[in-house]
Amino acid sequence: MNCRTVWVLIAASAAYSARLDYNRDVRPILAENCFHCHGQDSKNRMAGLRLDTSAGAARAITPGKPGASSLYARISAEQPARRMPPVASNRSLTAEQVAALKRWIEEGAAYA
Ligand code: HEC
Repeated sequence: MNCRTVWVLIAASAAYSARLDYNRDVRPILAENCFHCHGQDSKNRMAGLRLDTSAGAARAITPGKPGASSLYARISAEQPARRMPPVASNRSLTAEQVAALKRWIEEGAAYA
């Protein structure tokens, strides 16, 4: 193995380990801010959208394409009336949380 190959392997494994993990990095954000209205409880579910399963979220997420995902459009909306979670819920996402969800979608939006 030459020096260049070693560097390619190191870079590849760093990129791999930097991938977001659904249970560690994504689910806590959704659970805290979204599942209350878009979760398994069908009585409290808003807009008929559930985000706790990949099948439910398919309507709002195009894996690999945040720009084509209504989930990303809604968490990054400039207009307060469009933004999720709703202002009235007294919940909000930090810029880091919005960035993490964007990256998760870019990486394929895998559920675990
Ligand atoms: C307090 C309840 C509440 C919470 C919390 C909430 N939402 Fe919503 N959500 C709604 C309601 C009500 C609608 C329908 C009205 C609208 O589109 O604004 C909606 C609509 C949406 C839609 C559009 C659905 C469609 O296909 O038409 C998306 C996407 C969405 N929410 C994502 C999220 C995400 C992501 C979170 C968490 C970051 C979240 N919501 C948190 C109440 C909530």
